Amino acid sequence: MKVLLIGSGGREHALAWKIAQSPLLDALYAAPGNPGIADHAMLVELNVEDHAAVIAFAKEKAIDFVVIGPEAPLVAGLADDLRAAGIATFGPSKAAAQLEGSKGFTKDLCARYDIPTGAYQRFKSAEPAKDYVRAQGAPIVIKADGLAAGKGVTVAMTEAEALAAIDDCFDGAFGAAGAEVVVEAFLDGEEASFFCLSDGKTALALATAQDHKRVGDGDTGPNTGGMGAYSPAPVMTATMVERTMKEIIEPTISGMAKDGNPFSGVFFAGLMITAKGPELIEYNVRFGDPECQVLMMRLKSDLLPILYATATGTLDRVDAEWRDEAALTVVLASKGYPGAYDKNTPIAHIPEASEEAKVFHAGTALKDDRLVATGGRVLNVTALGKTVTEAQAHAYALADRVEWENGFCRRDIGWQAVAREKA
Ligand code: AMP
Ligand code: GLY
Repeated sequence: MKVLLIGSGGREHALAWKIAQSPLLDALYAAPGNPGIADHAMLVELNVEDHAAVIAFAKEKAIDFVVIGPEAPLVAGLADDLRAAGIATFGPSKAAAQLEGSKGFTKDLCARYDIPTGAYQRFKSAEPAKDYVRAQGAPIVIKADGLAAGKGVTVAMTEAEALAAIDDCFDGAFGAAGAEVVVEAFLDGEEASFFCLSDGKTALALATAQDHKRVGDGDTGPNTGGMGAYSPAPVMTATMVERTMKEIIEPTISGMAKDGNPFSGVFFAGLMITAKGPELIEYNVRFGDPECQVLMMRLKSDLLPILYATATGTLDRVDAEWRDEAALTVVLASKGYPGAYDKNTPIAHIPEASEEAKVFHAGTALKDDRLVATGGRVLNVTALGKTVTEAQAHAYALADRVEWENGFCRRDIGWQAVAREKA
């Protein structure tokens, strides 16, 4: 099979690394890719916003299958255009990608199909939103409706904070994403992420994972795209997985199909495990980054036929096997992230991969043949271990061997799971 992978982050490096191990693979291309992905794929300079150019390239190289990593091309309808051109594609349609692209869309789906989630209302102007907040009281959650790179959510512990967040949204802090606002009840519990494939009819649960969104140790400081992750997430017991499938995923699959938007691709459900059970915080329609890195480390099965079955409506014929070991990834980021940071700082050394550990590239480039850091999140140091505690020790031992002066990382990734293992 000839495969084209779209994307350039750590998630795509992990997908490329795993796809490259498939005996079914004849050739792997990545657009635009990164220097780490270049170890497994031929990099192609394509503007992925130019769908005609992507299709032309796919036809020229007789690509059998396209795997789309990030959400932006999905929300822009790249999967629809590729499928219309007769090319099998992993990733939901533009209509189904609204599950991630519009929080209001997802909340309405939950209301229609009785999917547990926080009570909410949608607003197109500030005053009625503020009246609702005053009526409900704090804590309460304010969300810009559209894609805001993870920054459009305010968990307001006071009413004043909530009112200010409403003003921010309507004053344009998140651009067009904030033109509509969702005000949602605060859910109390432990968060977990759950991954599940669907071909529109069948569901295949993947492993659980947990990331750390805050930049600082002890889950302090501003939110980021994720500073590290581990799998499995112990809060997701077998019972919780079963309940999530039955109460959240299955009604989503049948509801989306009923509404004329059948979903094919990966559900990344952000859950709050409350006293009542799993409740949906949000859906993403792509693999989490860096959650994907730990899932790929733990996946024993060949990824390629699983993704292909998802894309072609034959998911009922495949299964996914997982290693018993835990996996943990530590994000090395540029000093200053998630604020301003220097670009093009040199990375002098990255340790070799082994069976048990691998450094994925997330924001790197080659400049005059030297590896430099170009992004906020730059490397994902990922390792396996018998327990999360052991995976954590392996990952930090490897991270300490990376030579990059401008990099930093959290030192406590996996702390909740490590505390549980100690208890
Ligand atoms: P989201 O972008 O919707 O995942 O929200 C970002 C983060 O805000 C989540 O990971 C949670 O930590 C928090 N959050 C979102 N919605 C709620 C809610 N209803 N109750 C409590 N925390 C929430
Ligand atoms: N790590 C969170 C995300 O990918 O959205």
